[in-house]
Amino acid sequence: MKYNILNALLICVIFFTSCKNSNESNQSVNDIKTSKSLSIEDKVEALLSKMTLEEKIGQMNQYNGFWDVTGPAPSDGEAEIKYEHLRKGYVGSMINVKGVKDVRAVQKIAVEESRLGIPLIIGFDVIHGFKTTSPIPLAEAASWDLEAIKSSAEVAAKEAAASGINWTFAPMVDISRDARWGRVMEGAGEDPFLGSKIGVARVQGFQGEDLSSPLTIAACAKHFAGYGFAESGKDYNTVDVGTSTLNNIILPPFKAASDAGVRTFMNSFNELNGIPATGNKMLQRDILKEKWNFDGFVVSDWGSIAEMIAHGYAKDGKEAAKYAANAGSDMDMESYLYVEHLAALVKEGEVDEALIDDAVRRILKVKFELGLFDDPYKYCNEDREKEIIGSEAINNTVLDVAKKSIVLLKNQNQLLPLKKEGQKIAVIGALADDKTSPLGNWRLAAEEGSAISLLEGLKNYTGNIITYAKGADVIIENTSFAKEVKINEDDTSGFAEALALAKSSDVVIMVLGEHGMQSGEGRSRANLSLPGVQQQLLEAVYKVNKNIVLVLHNGRPLAIDWADQNIPSILEVWQLGSQSGNAIAQVLFGDYNPSGKLPMTFPKNVNQVPIYYNYKSTGRPNMPAPDEVFWSHYSDQTNQPLYPFGFGLSYTTFKYDNLKVENTFSENKTVKVSVEITNTGNYKGKEVTQLYIRDLFASVTRPIRELKGFEMIELEPNQTKTVTFTLTENELGFYDNLGEFIVEKGDFKVFVGGDSSAKLSSEFKI
Ligand code: BGC
Repeated sequence: MKYNILNALLICVIFFTSCKNSNESNQSVNDIKTSKSLSIEDKVEALLSKMTLEEKIGQMNQYNGFWDVTGPAPSDGEAEIKYEHLRKGYVGSMINVKGVKDVRAVQKIAVEESRLGIPLIIGFDVIHGFKTTSPIPLAEAASWDLEAIKSSAEVAAKEAAASGINWTFAPMVDISRDARWGRVMEGAGEDPFLGSKIGVARVQGFQGEDLSSPLTIAACAKHFAGYGFAESGKDYNTVDVGTSTLNNIILPPFKAASDAGVRTFMNSFNELNGIPATGNKMLQRDILKEKWNFDGFVVSDWGSIAEMIAHGYAKDGKEAAKYAANAGSDMDMESYLYVEHLAALVKEGEVDEALIDDAVRRILKVKFELGLFDDPYKYCNEDREKEIIGSEAINNTVLDVAKKSIVLLKNQNQLLPLKKEGQKIAVIGALADDKTSPLGNWRLAAEEGSAISLLEGLKNYTGNIITYAKGADVIIENTSFAKEVKINEDDTSGFAEALALAKSSDVVIMVLGEHGMQSGEGRSRANLSLPGVQQQLLEAVYKVNKNIVLVLHNGRPLAIDWADQNIPSILEVWQLGSQSGNAIAQVLFGDYNPSGKLPMTFPKNVNQVPIYYNYKSTGRPNMPAPDEVFWSHYSDQTNQPLYPFGFGLSYTTFKYDNLKVENTFSENKTVKVSVEITNTGNYKGKEVTQLYIRDLFASVTRPIRELKGFEMIELEPNQTKTVTFTLTENELGFYDNLGEFIVEKGDFKVFVGGDSSAKLSSEFKI
């Protein structure tokens, strides 16, 4: 992670000798900072003109939180050097400092002790909530509810901002088709259309209407680009993708975030087609800053500038700094290489100072927009911190999105919803009693053990007799954020108690799956089945009581083919955050009718991965005749997934009918598609109606289906509603292999229904 830190820092201290301390200059700098008449651009220019080269480079340097900032100044080591750099104005941003007291303390050094007093931008991984955690992003994506997702980001921003933070490293808009990749939990799944809409909703939620409000924070679209396509799902692995996938699948959510005004981007650890993303000029300068006109700044990923050496791209730290700066990485997160080498590189003519100026302008601009120059302590208010963090209103928002994120995968004989009284219910599985795992992976600011467990959530339903047995642990150790969790691979000593309970109960709720720390960064899995002895436990319980509701906690699609074939009801609950148990209990007892839909395909078996709905046809898509072999398939595994993208049931049922296409493309470039949906069951319910197109013949082949519209409707039993989608050139075009967006004349098919295998279809021509 850290590259030769102490050496680097010591060299820096010697190197930076030119710091002046001038009161007159401070005076005019203060006028610039707070001027009411100058535009932000003018203020940035005026400030830039006052900065030494070293101070400019300082703005491009970000340090991790370190010593006890509210204690005495450190007197040795890394912290002392960082402290010194803060005082000299050689630090533009801090990460992982949180809480008003600590943020105020570091900000005070930057503002009151450095020559120009430029405030720090304080970054933090507010990925799914802050102290109150929201569902993991993959779970929220399953809600397909953009308003709920936006509100969740909004309250996360509010809590973080109340803690002194003004910049989050979210949303992650990496598309991924590989459930083995640990970070699928942090994104919106496999589809670029859904991923773009969700990315934008999250950016809007974090940033709000007014970035300078003390309740909003700057967002960051990450990881630019290709990180989700790591070969074999192994984190940080090589990414080698063709132009069509890059332009049509990977880049669109980033473009959408940029168009929505996201203030920052983060580049990524991976190489893309041979060039590390961090040193990739095509991505950062040509596409992002020039083609898309992005006017915010790009931060590197943690140490990713230095990692270009290990990639075999830069021969040393100095060359890495040169490549990154020239390619458009504006801020160095924790590589220490900009602060060490950039000044020399500029003096030697290896990096043009104009590029440094460009980076600094971008960084200062965002700081001005955040209002940090008007009041560097604007995010530091103890009363607000006490009032907002953990408030009831925030918990209510998080509970709302948690309920909406749950996906009903199977419900044979309407076992769910459970009756509210008169039953003996056995709850089995360690995750039912876990108050930490539901907080998910990115829970840096949450208190361990602060989630509502399912057992706690069930206490609100008193009409049944509910008993509990753990059965088996999922993990036996989870020592820290950076250490592997240890899975329980052999301890079945709790089985007997669980089986006895199951035998004497009417219904069994089995709470199984992954621990919250089994997905996330560095947590890829080669196996997608239930970890440890849980499958064994499930099968043993099934032998004594078949009336099972399987409640699945996981941060990625799991391969649960056996459960699908045998267990009557399966509820996908992911990791739902602080309000997890309350949300699940409400769904189990029918106080919320599940409405979630899968944002990623569930495979039958890990060997099918990568498996996704929007694949290409190939020249041999279909079996020509029974048992023929010369077509695109496996001889020992079906091509069908277990559950397709977009799939999710409800306690009621919906019928789709009367699909109509009104094609006015030649007149006004639109095609309207309408469909009638009727609630044919007994419960009021919500349905995410999805529209897919297929562009049948194109100059660059198109996928067999592409999501191009979705709308959530709510229907009473027997009620019918008509949903109308409007397709424009935006939905009907695609990117060619030169990266240009084109719309081609030709034939299309359109499919509408409740998931990506929708049968109802029609055709049109443009
Ligand atoms: C992750 C980023 C994260 C950063 C800061 C890196 O390891 O890849 O997504 O924002 O750390 O914590």
